[in-house]
Amino acid sequence: MTAQPIIVCKDVTRRFGGLVANDSVNLEVRRGEILGLIGPNGAGKSTLFNLIAGSFPVSSGVIEFNGQNIASLPAARRCQLGIARTYQVPRSFDSMSVVENVTVGAFVRYPRMLDALNKAHEVLDYVGLTASAEASASELTPPQKRRLEVARALATEPKLLLLDEVLTGLTPSEARAGVELIRKIRETGITVVMVEHVMEVVMPLVDRAVVLHLGKVLAEGKPADVVRNDDVITAYLGERHRAA
Ligand SMILES: Nc1ncnc2c1ncn2[C@@H]1O[C@H](COP(=O)(O)OP(=O)(O)O)[C@@H](O)[C@H]1O
Ligand SMILES: [Mg+2]
Repeated sequence: MTAQPIIVCKDVTRRFGGLVANDSVNLEVRRGEILGLIGPNGAGKSTLFNLIAGSFPVSSGVIEFNGQNIASLPAARRCQLGIARTYQVPRSFDSMSVVENVTVGAFVRYPRMLDALNKAHEVLDYVGLTASAEASASELTPPQKRRLEVARALATEPKLLLLDEVLTGLTPSEARAGVELIRKIRETGITVVMVEHVMEVVMPLVDRAVVLHLGKVLAEGKPADVVRNDDVITAYLGERHRAA
């Protein structure tokens, strides 16, 4: 018997006017895995995250979380159920301190201020931001801001974490630290879906990859197989990759 997937998308479609950003997407996220969501800019990756997290509604289709259709639930309810996400462009509250930013996430589970603060400090320690806890969020470096995004998401104690390009723009050593953090998160039992462009990062980290192209699923499978797929090379990776 195979375990029930944590997420099942069935014919998920999202239109923006005449543009079909997600076009009948069918995919499953397996419990406990790290799934890589890859594909060229404009493929619909962030849109799919927005649909799963509830930032805006699907045009049609079903999204099941642990077997329950969540497609019409508000974002806050999905967060309570255990879906957390980061934004491709970090969205910290710059007038607030780092720990206050994380407390906003912690309130989802801990309505009492002191409990939420304790949770926030615990998560800051976990992601390695304790030294900046009292700093203004505006003072953080770009990689620290991405860590703050992850911390705020983790403070909601998610079962599913959607990471939208959290490793983008980092130096190689920062990216390595980010990879270690993602592995550590998965080891605690949280399922991770991550959008990432650098294949050297994706390949060793993810258990499976799904490739989106023009809003549709172009390929899915083990990362080593996906990067050898002719359609994926043509649409996304490019001919130089074929030679390699
Ligand atoms: N809120 C929106 N309003 C209008 N068009 C959007 C919106 N969000 C995304 N799109 C369009 O949907 C397509 C997919 O975008 P996106 O999901 O951001 O792609 P990716 O994350 O793969 O780069 C793009 O053509 C983008 O311009
Ligand atoms: Mg995107």
